[in-house]
Amino acid sequence: MITDAPRRAEDQAVTSEARQKVKVFSGIQPSGNFHLGNYLGAVRNWIKQIDRSDSVFCVVDLHALSNNPDSTLLKQQVLDLAGSYLASGIDPDRCLLFVQSHVPAHTELQWLLNSVTQFGELTRMTQFKDKSAGKGDSVSAAIFSYPVLMAADIILYDTEEVPVGDDQRQHVELTRDIVNRFNRRYGETFVLPKADIKTEGARIMSLDDPTEKMSKTSPREASYIAFSDPPDTIRKKIRRAVTDSGETIEGGADKPALTNLIQIYGSFADLTTSQVEQHFEGKRYGEFKKDLAELVVEKLTPIQGELERLRRDPDYVAGVLREGAARANTIAEKKMELVRERMGIGSFKP
Ligand code: AMP
Ligand code: TRP
Repeated sequence: MITDAPRRAEDQAVTSEARQKVKVFSGIQPSGNFHLGNYLGAVRNWIKQIDRSDSVFCVVDLHALSNNPDSTLLKQQVLDLAGSYLASGIDPDRCLLFVQSHVPAHTELQWLLNSVTQFGELTRMTQFKDKSAGKGDSVSAAIFSYPVLMAADIILYDTEEVPVGDDQRQHVELTRDIVNRFNRRYGETFVLPKADIKTEGARIMSLDDPTEKMSKTSPREASYIAFSDPPDTIRKKIRRAVTDSGETIEGGADKPALTNLIQIYGSFADLTTSQVEQHFEGKRYGEFKKDLAELVVEKLTPIQGELERLRRDPDYVAGVLREGAARANTIAEKKMELVRERMGIGSFKP
């Protein structure tokens, strides 16, 4: 009894230390061009809290299949997105970084979760409504069941927080409903995650149309700033970005274009909207846009340089991903053993 006591105290210390680290999971699709919205809305927030968390970051290539990408291009984009993560400062020694399709448990769990997900829930998803608009019955089932795979990604790793942009809030809410339903039906199995959405940068809008989200798959190059854009292209895109009528640098509901540019400035300079407004008091649009372009160029140039270096070293990136997948498979497979057990499947496997 006496000899057991200190060991228990030690265990408790370890447990409480481990508890302080929040479990985090997030992912981005390797489709289209990694852009400013992805960086400010997602990756930069991942990095900010990497040391206070047990972070898992994923290149979600299976989700990208819902856009029917060219297979050669997809392979390239997986490496490129992983390179963008690394170049942005995601350090593989301080987190777990891997490609979704390298861990088969994600698709297995998706099927299992389909059985606790309702048709009506999936039809109510805004992203599904947007992506299926005009397609009628020919819309792919992958676009429909996309949020179930996302739920599987998140809950396989006992995730507590999911740092994403505002557009993914509804998918994380659905994940919570799925977890609650599963746990009620099969007993406590999954951790209930919550979305971690920052106010600054959560929704960066298109430069040429501030009513539309900046998007990787937009056909209009002027609408986004891609990581691959050289400095002069960035300057030109910001110079040509639409602005609202008026003279002063002030945001507001009636000034969506300016509000968006102020948001971008504030996110990069770590200033609130009112601090940016104060900084540019008495200045005109032209001057503000010029300063904004220089700030974006200054912040992106080192990241772009690192990305170029990584593009010339695909073996290094592939090695990081392979190592990450090995670790992720161990964690995911352990979780799946419990899930199969709970659901009464896989019992008599050889
Ligand atoms: P996606 O480009 O849709 O694969 O999104 C990857 C991540 O970037 C998700 O966390 C999104 O919420 C975030 N994201 C995408 N577009 C934007 C945007 N325009 N503003 C802020 N965050 C974004
Ligand atoms: N659906 C997300 C998007 O389009 C990408 C994603 C897939 C994701 N699985 C995830 C994000 C798990 C966070 C957690 O942006």
